[in-house]
Amino acid sequence: MKTTMFRCFYAHCRQNTYFIIGLCIGISISLLMTPILDNDCLFNKAHSFESDHFTKGRSLNSESESDEYKPVINLAGKPQKALKTPQILMRPRYYSTELGIREKLFVGVLTSPTTLESRAVGLNKTVAHLVDKLMFFIDAPGPQKLNISMPGIVGFSDSRKILKPFHMLKYITDNHMGDFDFFFLVKDSTYIKARRLYEIVQDISVSEDVHAGSGKDDEHTAFCSLDAGLLLSNSVMQKVSSSLDWCVKNAFSDLDDANIGRCVLHATGIPCQDSVQGQQLTSFTLSENFNIYQDLYKLSEEAKLRAALSLYPVLNLADVFKLHSYFSKVSLVEAKQDISLLRKFIANASVSSPVRSLQLSPVSWPIGTQRGNIPVSRFDILRWDYFTNKEFCLDSDFSNSKKLRGADKLDIEYVLNATIAKIESVTNGQLQFRRLIDGYRKFDPSRGLDYQIEMAFKDTSTGHEVLKRLEVFKPLGKVEVIPMPYVTENNRINLVLPVEAVTRDQAKHFMEQYARICMEKRDKTFLMLVLLYDPTVPGKGNKDDVFLDVKQMALALSDRHKKDGNKIAWVSIKVPTRTEHGSLLEFAIADIVVKKFSPDSLVLLCQPNMEIRQDFLNRVRMNTIQEWQVFSPIPFSEFHPSIVYSTSFPRPLELDINKNYGHYDSHHTGHIAFYTKDYSTVRKLVEDIILPVNTDRDINLLLATKQKNFNGKCFLHDLYSMFVCTGKLHVLRAVEPGLRLRFRECVCPPSSGSPYEYQQCIDSRANNLGFRNQLAHLILDYQAQQLQKASM
Ligand SMILES: *[C@@H]1O[C@H](CO)[C@@H](O)[C@H](O)[C@H]1NC(C)=O
Ligand SMILES: *[C@@H]1O[C@H](CO)[C@@H](O)[C@H](O)[C@H]1NC(C)=O
Ligand SMILES: *[C@@H]1O[C@H](CO)[C@@H](O)[C@H](O)[C@H]1NC(C)=O
Repeated sequence: MKTTMFRCFYAHCRQNTYFIIGLCIGISISLLMTPILDNDCLFNKAHSFESDHFTKGRSLNSESESDEYKPVINLAGKPQKALKTPQILMRPRYYSTELGIREKLFVGVLTSPTTLESRAVGLNKTVAHLVDKLMFFIDAPGPQKLNISMPGIVGFSDSRKILKPFHMLKYITDNHMGDFDFFFLVKDSTYIKARRLYEIVQDISVSEDVHAGSGKDDEHTAFCSLDAGLLLSNSVMQKVSSSLDWCVKNAFSDLDDANIGRCVLHATGIPCQDSVQGQQLTSFTLSENFNIYQDLYKLSEEAKLRAALSLYPVLNLADVFKLHSYFSKVSLVEAKQDISLLRKFIANASVSSPVRSLQLSPVSWPIGTQRGNIPVSRFDILRWDYFTNKEFCLDSDFSNSKKLRGADKLDIEYVLNATIAKIESVTNGQLQFRRLIDGYRKFDPSRGLDYQIEMAFKDTSTGHEVLKRLEVFKPLGKVEVIPMPYVTENNRINLVLPVEAVTRDQAKHFMEQYARICMEKRDKTFLMLVLLYDPTVPGKGNKDDVFLDVKQMALALSDRHKKDGNKIAWVSIKVPTRTEHGSLLEFAIADIVVKKFSPDSLVLLCQPNMEIRQDFLNRVRMNTIQEWQVFSPIPFSEFHPSIVYSTSFPRPLELDINKNYGHYDSHHTGHIAFYTKDYSTVRKLVEDIILPVNTDRDINLLLATKQKNFNGKCFLHDLYSMFVCTGKLHVLRAVEPGLRLRFRECVCPPSSGSPYEYQQCIDSRANNLGFRNQLAHLILDYQAQQLQKASM
């Protein structure tokens, strides 16, 4: 019995000792009650190691002692099936909520209407920019009646002074519980070293309960002072929030410190500590006649002062600023010392190990920069591009040289100018630049641009030519995070699919996929078919309507999925014969289709040979942002099936991302997603070049457009180029593994479009045939056959 009690005592909160001892004595005495009370005991503290012990001990005992109380499981009517509720995707507003990311530190200050304008302002100016959030709590009717229009102030109209801190706790737990790792509560008469405070909380693990502070009345008390500041971790706050009622009922002391301290102690069982995980929290009490100017600089207790996290009481605003200036100076001096130490260290490191610094040492040229990529194999070596002042040589696998122009030209010029200026200044003008001989340039995405430049100078004292080789480095700038508007994966996508008579079968296959992937899974989508009737095929109303089967299928599928809100609809457009379309037809399709949607609809222009994938649709939802961004994915396009597949490698049902079967076709701009309103806005800007299409008749005019230059230099030939040229919206163009296109015979009509467009079309058709290796094999095979024939 004794041992049980002993264990029990340890297993439970030390501070609830009396209650628990009582409880456990109860357990020990009354065997009859064992199962019930035992349960209670466990419930309180199921986590600590001792309690594990205790459970084992108890349950063994109870088994041997009270068999007649064996539980009987009631199986009548069980097991019951859990009712299945359909899962609806509920995305929280911020990814930080979804991932549980919290900010570090919240500082809550108890202040009063009379001191708000002085001390609170002082704290705001010395603390607010160094912590994640600073809020003031006043016991007043509220900011409106006080005629204060400052944010970050919460007022309470409770006349009971002792409850003020609890109002603060209540507000914080109600509003900011999930947002911060640590909460620092303090009164306004304190100067806080916010930088130090932030360093401390960054070093503390959040997995542990923290109830810490300083300024205890005496060593034995479990309570810290609110004047010195109280540091609570999120986990402690959560426990406090569920005990607040108890705390308010038991707030009988006149001192806030004791009330709050007792509350936290009750909720967590942890007395206030003055050090957390090796971090000391100390404070410094300023004597009544402390004169900041004199005493601060000659203080014998300087070490204590420097270590202190907070100083109090600081009653007027000027003193706050004096202290702040003093401590800022101190930390500035420390920072400078750190920098010079680091400098020395780096210099030593690079001098003392010249051999290592070539390969492995973290020190690289120039000192302090990112070392750059270290190739894993010979395939990862970054290339150095050779340049002269006119061109890059062997700039890619496909060409021998490339003219130096545009950004490249400016870049090289800039580097040359800087190098020349440097040499001339270092030699006091003794060397004068003559010419650039040549140079190499390397781009390392982890580091920046490296150059090696060989230049000829004239030595003014001798008149001879001097050659110099110089290394130049242009580091990458700081990475910036661009704030973007909020989007969800919940938007409805309106897929727009143009169908020609020849792509009818592909379109039917597309609809099958659509039904399987979007309609059945109740993805929020809508499919709009755009049926393109050219004059050579039987038209609308005709009983041999070419699209009759397409329409029937659309109707049948819509009927079957009427309930899910996913539908297939179509519009019919009369277009000229097929060979005359260029990509300008996209404008006609979009102009007509956009009118059928509300202004805030998300439209995705599709092609019938694409494979529908849900992850792609989700990416469209995330990457298309109203009034901000349009999305143009770069698809993975299949090569010509009769070239890349064989009997041993038959064409798979789903296109695999593999360089032998296809490639990312960066010329392809046929898929684009935008919001209808954005489209209309941008479309207006180019209306005088590309006429708006209101009826089928306008299409002929549109397709006849010859002059497509926008602002003299930008070439408008499809929707993508329209968004790029106008520059009104951000255009996101990115490789998209979720968008895969099946091979499709490309028609390049020489009659429509400019020679440039024609060439583009021919090029992209050629690129889509096969992998270079495979094409080379074909040519070699063909030649071998020819030779054989000739010899026979
Ligand atoms: C509030 O303060 C502003 C200036 O600080 C003053 O112009 C205004 O009259 C005041 N309003 C009230 C209701 O006192
Ligand atoms: C604190 O300072 C910020 C600007 O630094 C200001 O916008 C805010 O109103 C101030 N709040 C208080 C309560 O003084
Ligand atoms: C380089 O210097 C030349 C001559 O001083 C100047 O005309 C040119 O604009 C400079 N180029 C760059 C990119 O700074």
